[in-house]
Amino acid sequence: MNSIQSYITEHKDRFINELIVLLKIPSISADSAYKNDVLKTAEAIKVSLEHAGCDAVEICKTDGYPIIYGEKIIDPSLPTVLVYGHYDVQPPDPLELWTSPPFEPVIKKTERHPEGAIYARGSCDDKGQMYMHVKALEFMTSTNQLPCNVKFMVEGEEEVGSPNLAIFVKNNQEKLKNDVILISDTGMISNDIPSITTGLRGLSYVEVEVTGPNRDLHSGLYGGAVANPINVLTKMIASLHDENNHITIPGFYDKVEVLSKEERAEMAKAPFSLEDYKDALDIDAVYGEAGYTTNERNSIRPTVDVNGIWGGYIGEGAKTVIASKAYAKISMRLVPNQDWEEITVLFKTHFESIAPKGVTIKVTPHHGGQGYVTPIDSIGYQAASKAYQNTFGKTPIPQRSGGSIPIVSLFEKELQSKTILMGFGLDSDAIHSPNEHFGIFNFLKGIETIPYFYKYFTELSK
Ligand code: BES
Ligand code: MN
Ligand code: MN
Repeated sequence: MNSIQSYITEHKDRFINELIVLLKIPSISADSAYKNDVLKTAEAIKVSLEHAGCDAVEICKTDGYPIIYGEKIIDPSLPTVLVYGHYDVQPPDPLELWTSPPFEPVIKKTERHPEGAIYARGSCDDKGQMYMHVKALEFMTSTNQLPCNVKFMVEGEEEVGSPNLAIFVKNNQEKLKNDVILISDTGMISNDIPSITTGLRGLSYVEVEVTGPNRDLHSGLYGGAVANPINVLTKMIASLHDENNHITIPGFYDKVEVLSKEERAEMAKAPFSLEDYKDALDIDAVYGEAGYTTNERNSIRPTVDVNGIWGGYIGEGAKTVIASKAYAKISMRLVPNQDWEEITVLFKTHFESIAPKGVTIKVTPHHGGQGYVTPIDSIGYQAASKAYQNTFGKTPIPQRSGGSIPIVSLFEKELQSKTILMGFGLDSDAIHSPNEHFGIFNFLKGIETIPYFYKYFTELSK
């Protein structure tokens, strides 16, 4: 497959320009004001899949945003790769922290990306990574080198918890039938240390509301004599961790997968510099659960984090008031074997039980999903590993990620196939943050590596 390099050299400017066109559409699934843009993006994905050689591309309606499905079946007796990605993006706020507008992509050089990176919301998560697959397919079909069958499923609601994907998968098992699922929606260690993601954390996301008195009160007349919902909420939240930063919710750790000494030693071999980590974040110390390293804390251990908290007076100046209500959004990252629905119940029961008299508590679950681990001795993993060896000249390191793609465990359950997570982003690419970017090197390296995955997967499946 020599010609993938020359194909990229010849077409890379067009690839980048096409991606830029896609990045200009603000497909923010969380904000209904962008509904038309999300739908426009779906349309654009359909056209791009058709151009890349997919047959029968459909915009599949759901109760939310559509799922784009396309396939190229060359021979039913050959293996089938199912590619999943998402075309929706996170809201870009806070806008004032962007050095260029989130939906006006520009290429800038950085220390980590000397060849330049595309700055735009969705550049890395996940339009840029999803588009690598479209361009890899274009290469394989246009040069007659597609070695197996391929199916694409690109959704528009990943960033809001994929509320309509599960039912779509359940209802379309035959259509989605495959031998391996391939996703680029994660990261790798660095541009010269390739890695393959072998685990994802699960998630339970809840919102809590604490109600005290029936109206906002003068904090002088009533202060000290009634429960202040904000004081109470912050105290309750603080009590969710003990002095060792262990989570105090009863039963929370019961099913947590315990890694052996050997597995932890293996994990510790992955190159990591705590100094660089702290420098990149401008912090003078890391923080977390006693007894675990930074890389363990953010991958094999579960968490409870407040994502947002509000209530009371936050306008200019001062107002002496005791608010009637206080709120927080709380996410729990889960590890394999923890069941997200069970954890949601444990949280709710515990949170209600620790509330003092004088307030009422409401816990509203948002969304969630199970964690995932994939073995490294599968044909899919081996094919991916060989593909990276070819294009990076190095064996990739298996690495568990702290992020979540809740739908992956559902794929395994409903479609009975393993997912291979070939992510080409870097943790420093600022996904979900201001100034999200995706390296040109990473984008092109992805396009280069993917066709080798198809080749080796087909060969190893024989
Ligand atoms: N692509 C990310 C997940 C990710 C990023 C996993 C990097 C591993 C490494 C995905 O789009 C995402 O943001 N997922 C959400 C969960 C979802 C239910 C909103 C997350 O992890 O917060
Ligand atoms: Mn993503
Ligand atoms: Mn995301």
